[in-house]
Amino acid sequence: MIIKRKTHYLLSLFVVAGASLAQDPTIDRMIAAQCAQCHGTDGHATGDIDSIAGKDTADLYHKLIDMEEDRAEDIMEHQAWGYTDEQLYRIARYYSTVPESDDEDREDEDDD
Ligand code: HEC
Repeated sequence: MIIKRKTHYLLSLFVVAGASLAQDPTIDRMIAAQCAQCHGTDGHATGDIDSIAGKDTADLYHKLIDMEEDRAEDIMEHQAWGYTDEQLYRIARYYSTVPESDDEDREDEDDD
């Protein structure tokens, strides 16, 4: 199972690294806009939910793929399920370009 997931990641990264995924920040932002409902404008959360602005693209993408594979057990799995892997990558790529605010620390960077 673990090997299968790793293969999936590698394949996904191979695909998104290729020419098939055009660098289009506007499309990335449009797809990513749905997340703002709960994670705040441009991923800067104001309430109890974590901010997602300024996170590493690969980190965010892998979290979203995990959520997608877990299939609609909780809020985020339900969210991730609604997107293709390419869209999840675009979302991750978008939020990684948004600078974190001063009060958003990076200490949660390597938790799961
Ligand atoms: C309906 C509300 C809602 C929407 C819409 C939503 N999320 Fe979430 N998200 C949550 C909640 C609730 C959590 C879990 C609590 C937390 O981490 O603060 C969460 C957690 C996360 C986490 C884990 C945070 C961490 O540090 O591990 C990531 C990453 C994330 N969301 C990304 C996204 C992305 C990207 C989108 C758009 C595709 C999105 N979310 C849309 C509610 C939402």
